[in-house]
Amino acid sequence: MSHTWWRGAAIYQVYLRSFADGNGDGVGDLAGLRARLPYLKDLGIDAIWLNPWYPSPMADGGYDVADYRDIEPVFGTLAEAEKFIAEAHELDIKVIIDVVPNHSSTASAWFRRALTDRTARDRFWFRDEPNDWQSIFGGPAWTQVPDGQWYLHLFAPEQPDFNWANEEVHQEFEDVLRFWFDKGVDGVRIDSAALLFKSATAYEDLDEVHDVYRRWRRIADEYGDRILIGEVWLPDQERFTRYLRPDELHTAFNFDFLSCPWDPAELRRVIDLTLTTHAPVGAPPTWVLSNHDVTRPVTRYGRADTAFAHGGRLHGAPSDLELGYRRARAAALLAMALPGSLYVYQGEELGLPEVEDLPDELRQDPMYARSQGANPGRDGCRVPLPWAGEEPPFGFGGPHPWLPQPESWRKLTAEAQQADLGSMLNLYRTGLRLRRELLGDGSLSWLPLGDGVLAFIRSSGLICVTNLGPGPIPLPPGRTVLASGPMADGDLPPDTTVWLTSLE
Ligand code: NOJ
Repeated sequence: MSHTWWRGAAIYQVYLRSFADGNGDGVGDLAGLRARLPYLKDLGIDAIWLNPWYPSPMADGGYDVADYRDIEPVFGTLAEAEKFIAEAHELDIKVIIDVVPNHSSTASAWFRRALTDRTARDRFWFRDEPNDWQSIFGGPAWTQVPDGQWYLHLFAPEQPDFNWANEEVHQEFEDVLRFWFDKGVDGVRIDSAALLFKSATAYEDLDEVHDVYRRWRRIADEYGDRILIGEVWLPDQERFTRYLRPDELHTAFNFDFLSCPWDPAELRRVIDLTLTTHAPVGAPPTWVLSNHDVTRPVTRYGRADTAFAHGGRLHGAPSDLELGYRRARAAALLAMALPGSLYVYQGEELGLPEVEDLPDELRQDPMYARSQGANPGRDGCRVPLPWAGEEPPFGFGGPHPWLPQPESWRKLTAEAQQADLGSMLNLYRTGLRLRRELLGDGSLSWLPLGDGVLAFIRSSGLICVTNLGPGPIPLPPGRTVLASGPMADGDLPPDTTVWLTSLE
């Protein structure tokens, strides 16, 4: 693979706790992931991105990191992680890990020391008086310690924020990067990448943060082909692409696309804006439909309001899951055809819906507890994957997965879909294979096929047409290579995407 493999890569997101359980304790782990590497190879992805795998009290699903240089014992060992990296590389699959630089864990050695030694507090945000900031998960962003001081946590109280004005924090993370690059990881996904610096009045997107990523880029470049991917939620695309200047991050998640409603004009606007803002910095766009923080697309696209917003997750709003499923298939082929890199969140390839009826007492997302139940949180998109069989736990491993799976998932297991040529799994497999040959990085030209239609041609000659209008539309001339659903007498039905090659 070339040094620019990441520009058009298809990257599969593994939420380790819920991927596959190798030792039967109900929690996914490295043994489970290693055993399923052939499945990922068959799927046709180029890289795996793993959510945090470090030792953690799991106050926020591992985003509360106690030790950045080791592996959570529930997931396995450092030696196993090294084996996993080697095995993935043997299959020509790159490995991307999550780095969490905005905050730590109250269980980390630095924070424990800060609690007992007031002179060791400068690596965090300790103050005599809190300000009025609220935590992103709800409730105050400050917690008081027994001696009267307060520390800042933009997320849960178990996640104290680092003070990036302290040079030791820089040194620590640069060393952590080298530690994992030396172990062979091919890239890092940077959590909450725009939040690192704080002023007296603001904590989002302060200019100083860019110097951190310039320093990190120099380290990544020393290693040759390692990449930095930013989790940057910013409403302003111009500010967003500043993170992608040639001496900063390689790519960042495109949350505008993920949040966009299933609407032709809005999708066209977001795609155009993405392409025009990325072009001047030379960074490839990314196309993301889901991840471990957002409502699954099948459920989202079946609702009256198909947009995603953190503030209004629309939990429990009626959803026509058949419609949502059809649209999720169409959206998958649309996303795969766009120029740049693509992210697939585990279970997306199985067409899993959001699980909205989890018993409240089993919910683990701190968003739920911190909002006094007002926000159900993100557990519904984190339910363990169904692999095989007719009954829960559907081959996940062990009798009791950490979150229960719905009985109705018997139709959605990887095993059931494997045998069904029309399944979502086989759509993803075929789509990803063709994408490798005909799509990926590059540019597109729009084709004018009417208001309710998104149609474009890629330089390989592949044409992608998505019908978001109310009725069937005639297809442009070409040979159909793949379609997200059946045709209607040769026309393209609503909520369907087709790929065509131009006739020679
Ligand atoms: C973004 C992660 O994706 C999310 O899961 C986490 O809760 C927050 N950052 C805090 O680390």
